[in-house]
Amino acid sequence: MSDVNPVLAAADAGLEASIARWLDLLKIPSVSTDPAYAGECTRAGQWLTDMLNGLGFDASLRKTAGHPMVVAHYAGANAVSSRHVLFYGHYDVQPADPLEEWKTPPFEPSRQTGPDGMEQVYARGAADDKGQLMTFLEASRAWIDTTGDLPLKVTVLLEGEEESGSPSLEPFLKANKRELVSDVALVCDTNMWDAKTPAITTRLRGLLHDEVTVTGPSIDLHSGYYGGAAANPIRILSDIVSDIHDRNGRITIPGFYDGVKAVPKATREQWGKLKFSERKFLGEIGLKESAGERRFSILEQTWARPTAEVNGIYGGYTGVGTKTVIPSKASAKISFRLVGTQDPDKIRKAFRKFVKDRLPKGCSVAFSEASEGSPAIEISEHSEDLQSAAAALKQEFRKAPVMMGCGGSIPIVRSFKDLLGMDSLLVGFGLANDAIHSPNEKYDVNSFHKGIRSWIRIMDGLAR
Ligand code: BES
Ligand code: MN
Repeated sequence: MSDVNPVLAAADAGLEASIARWLDLLKIPSVSTDPAYAGECTRAGQWLTDMLNGLGFDASLRKTAGHPMVVAHYAGANAVSSRHVLFYGHYDVQPADPLEEWKTPPFEPSRQTGPDGMEQVYARGAADDKGQLMTFLEASRAWIDTTGDLPLKVTVLLEGEEESGSPSLEPFLKANKRELVSDVALVCDTNMWDAKTPAITTRLRGLLHDEVTVTGPSIDLHSGYYGGAAANPIRILSDIVSDIHDRNGRITIPGFYDGVKAVPKATREQWGKLKFSERKFLGEIGLKESAGERRFSILEQTWARPTAEVNGIYGGYTGVGTKTVIPSKASAKISFRLVGTQDPDKIRKAFRKFVKDRLPKGCSVAFSEASEGSPAIEISEHSEDLQSAAAALKQEFRKAPVMMGCGGSIPIVRSFKDLLGMDSLLVGFGLANDAIHSPNEKYDVNSFHKGIRSWIRIMDGLAR
């Protein structure tokens, strides 16, 4: 039996060097949604491929129709275990805008000590997902440096399109199934409960996008000459949008709640014991009351209930000065978070019908080319692998992990299950105030350090 203590000691001793590598990766602006940064995405993928090859993995950068995938295998010549894990992360990041809101430039990582003595690294991707994925890679390094091996067989899959909906992922999983199938997928893209309490995420919401364009008059019109008679598509669209929710925050699209299940009593009780402060949660984002469905707690609203959100709305004249116009068109980008067995295709159809049913005569509506939605997923808390990871986290933090839900979506977890038949283990070290996707994103050095130490222990546990 291997002893993890020397491996943990190696991770501690190597922490500064690990941080330096993390900062190097953060300097590459691998923004996947903007074609102008395609070269930078490839550069980030190549950087990781080189690093993994340097560690002794057999790593390569694989072409896809979009940004490349990093795939790396570590055979584990001396591994005492026959177990095989697939580690998944994403090297792409969200766009950094609005740039003027950043206190330090997003791709010049800056290490700062807060008033509480806690250190943070600020950069786009500091947490999501570069800091998080590096915790696993640096844990692997500590194992290899100390024992010349990993305790189990490891395959690493790092994609560059997560922040743009992973269009290349499903075809890639299908085409490389044999190479990628493992006993369990490890995903490091979620949060801890708080800075002192680890967590395993066991629920992820699904996601569906749509874009609506309402056309009223055939051309932009003089709002005096035609005003009073001509339909204004912004008004039509706003009416439709405001119809989506009723006064109790419930979504009114017929059939929308098909497949939404009540939270089991035991789970509700478990969540009740978490001492979640709704006031604090709202206060941190400058709010005082929840806008969600009445009668549900905020944990339920964000972990176990579906949503419809308008992400953007546009149309008409928004430039400087005034313009007396009735626009011809107005559009909105809308997304839905899904739970239970809600079916994205059915919801897309129901939503489109809901819109069409509300159109005045003579007006028309068009929807954007449908991108595939992804359903929600729940992961059993009772698997041996999950229990083993929970024990490892408890050893590291001296505190049992919270079994959490996540309001966000990681569609690949569904794909691993449906295409490769694999369960996932979602262990992450992010914090609620990391500001992922926002200006001044950060990751705590403590998250990074504890993350490395946790993966060392989790790998050890899974190998047994
Ligand atoms: N890391 C996030 C998921 C997440 C969000 C974990 C909040 C913990 C807390 C992930 O990278 C993400 O942002 N996913 C997107 C979906 C994707 C298809 C654009 C999301 O949830 O919006
Ligand atoms: Mn993200």
